[in-house]
Amino acid sequence: MELLKQRILAEGCALNADVLLVDSFLNHQVDVVLMQAIGQAFAAVFAGRGATRVVTVESSGIAPAMATAFHLGLPLVVCKKQASRILAQDVWQAQVRSFTRGIQYELTLKRAFMPAGERVLLIDDFLASGEAALGVLNVLRQAQAELIGVGIVIEKAFQNGRNRLAEQGCTVHALARIAKMGPGEIVFAE
Ligand code: G4P
Repeated sequence: MELLKQRILAEGCALNADVLLVDSFLNHQVDVVLMQAIGQAFAAVFAGRGATRVVTVESSGIAPAMATAFHLGLPLVVCKKQASRILAQDVWQAQVRSFTRGIQYELTLKRAFMPAGERVLLIDDFLASGEAALGVLNVLRQAQAELIGVGIVIEKAFQNGRNRLAEQGCTVHALARIAKMGPGEIVFAE
């Protein structure tokens, strides 16, 4: 997606070879016009695949996932990272370890919001090693729902998230794929 790549080049800052700062339009301040365009782009890619729900993981996935759900006319379900006490029962859970942030959390999805047989499109902001997406796949399998596609705003293509998801039979579409980066340098993959 050309518009997104231009924004990454104009405002993105590679803190090092692994972490890209895009907090001026995606992770902290959110450009809602760009999010609408992102939602439209994902809707064009995944239209016709029979999705019945869009799912994301809080918090930075919510903006692009909401725009996508809007353009596809589907409900959006947000997986939580912390099980609150009132959600202690009737949930599906999977443990996720975030390598980028060095934390571990219980990905939590209320059963009532994911009946068996749902066809789910996962939208997230970043794909790195695929831990969050594999956690979503885990809870969807517990719910007997099917993951029909994964839409990613920015994929760090030099990490193994895409391969790990492909091994599980998941199709990934990324709007921007970064081949390598470093201070002052961001190179996109084909
Ligand atoms: P993985 O799920 O693909 O394995 O990714 P990883 O655990 O490495 O990263 C987890 C968190 O770090 C996610 O945010 C993800 O969006 C974010 N992240 C990964 N790589 C980058 C990066 O290069 N730049 C930025 N800005 N974020 C990155 P999160 O913990 O879910 O936080 P949030 O959604 O509340 O912001």
